[in-house]
Amino acid sequence: MKKYVIFSVTALVLFACGAKEVKTENTSTEASKPVVDGAKIYKQNCELCHGLDGKLGANGSKNLTVSELDLNARIAMVSKGKGVMMAFENILNLSEIKAVAEYTMTLK
Ligand code: HEC
Repeated sequence: MKKYVIFSVTALVLFACGAKEVKTENTSTEASKPVVDGAKIYKQNCELCHGLDGKLGANGSKNLTVSELDLNARIAMVSKGKGVMMAFENILNLSEIKAVAEYTMTLK
């Protein structure tokens, strides 16, 4: 019985991967475009307080160019918000939050 369950799970995983591959092929016309653009998300959601270069500090926001937070802490910060900064978990999806957090790491 246990063996059977393991086999089913393996088959499911293989099937899921196979399905994904097919989907990628079908949308190959958009393959050259990045799925989520961290810089664009930043401009739309973060520039207001943090400024285009991350140094604005409007509304008491932190200067992102000197932030010592690592990527995971930034993802948490953007998801949950803090003080004046709103939570973005209901505004952006997880890959968008990750992309924008990665983008803030490039602001130096
Ligand atoms: C309404 C203004 C506002 C917006 C919009 C905003 N922030 Fe913030 N942000 C703040 C404030 C205020 C803080 C400081 C919070 C605190 O520590 O009390 C902060 C802190 C941060 C920090 C932590 C910096 C540190 O070193 O502690 C990160 C990272 C950050 N913001 C990223 C972002 C990103 C990415 C976005 C866009 C998705 C964003 N913020 C949008 C106001 C804002």
